Amino acid sequence: MSGIKIVGTGLGVPNRVVTNADIANLVDTNEGWIVSRTGISTRRHLSAGETILSCTLQAARAALAQAGVRPEEIGTCLVATLTPDMLVPSAACMVQKELGLAHDAVCFDLNAACTGFLFALHTTECLLKSSRKKFGLVIGAENLSRITDWADRSTCILFGDGAGAAVVEWREDFPSIEAVLGCHGDDRVLRVPGVETGVRSLISMEGTHVFKFAIQAVPYCVDEVLRRCSLAPEDVDFFVFHQANERIIDAAAKRYNIPPEKVYKNIQNYGNTSAASIPLVLAELQTQGRIHPGDRVLVVGFGGGLTWGGALVEFAERTPL
Ligand code: ACO
Repeated sequence: MSGIKIVGTGLGVPNRVVTNADIANLVDTNEGWIVSRTGISTRRHLSAGETILSCTLQAARAALAQAGVRPEEIGTCLVATLTPDMLVPSAACMVQKELGLAHDAVCFDLNAACTGFLFALHTTECLLKSSRKKFGLVIGAENLSRITDWADRSTCILFGDGAGAAVVEWREDFPSIEAVLGCHGDDRVLRVPGVETGVRSLISMEGTHVFKFAIQAVPYCVDEVLRRCSLAPEDVDFFVFHQANERIIDAAAKRYNIPPEKVYKNIQNYGNTSAASIPLVLAELQTQGRIHPGDRVLVVGFGGGLTWGGALVEFAERTPL
């Protein structure tokens, strides 16, 4: 046995609220279609003076404060993102600079699209095992409004900006999060070309294909995590699914007969924030006092790559030094 538990969470979202009516001023769409097909009412977008780094720092500071962990105690800082402010230095190194993390902290960015936070959690669990320091900062942060095609009504309604963070602690007597991760290389159904490639660096997506992929990937991850942990669905206190489409979340809840109070959704407020989506949910659950030490949270993500992942995450009070 050995693994990580979450000891603090935080979020940072831009101030600007973009409504469905705002988007209907740009493309041929309407409130009824967006809400019924996606569940999204509003999303947050960065505006002048805001950066994704400022949201990231707000989330990370809140998570550290809640955990009662000092920056110099952090051994790893991973930022899951496909939209860093800069390619180099990494967002994680900028967090290190701004928060004053120690020079022996391992800091880097990771891109697994919407599954990035889960890939980062698993990587952190592996890294902390051999690290002298036992606390890690795991962040998901996205500036998706920057890579949104504002002429494409099938995608521009979906995406929002923001950052969520978790401080995790590794201990010999904590169980592993039992991460189930996988990829299926596909550059057709969901892609964002790189900058200066001669093609606009904007999101293009065959939504129906991704939808069908998600409907299969989510139960695969739930079943596999439950099997590895020898648990049944009713043993889980909360289910946190990537906030991509309310219909995908509701289909999963129905399949496992999960009562509504065990499935938290904030897609209505933030839209799809890719790697930030899962930590935004975790932070809101904790802020609202709905998660307690010992609670088991089954987390599932899926997205571009294609990528998918699931894990069983527990919360704990931090261990006093
Ligand atoms: N307003 C009004 N009508 C629209 C809009 C809109 N914004 N967008 C599409 N339509 C129309 C289409 O043109 C189509 O019309 P037609 O039948 O006359 O051709 C009709 O609505 C149905 O279009 P679909 O694309 O089939 O709509 P669907 O119900 O599949 O919803 C959506 C589209 C919301 C994108 C859905 O497919 C979806 O959520 N897919 C999954 C996305 C996802 O999970 N992404 C995760 C990864 S994101 C990442 O990694 C960055």
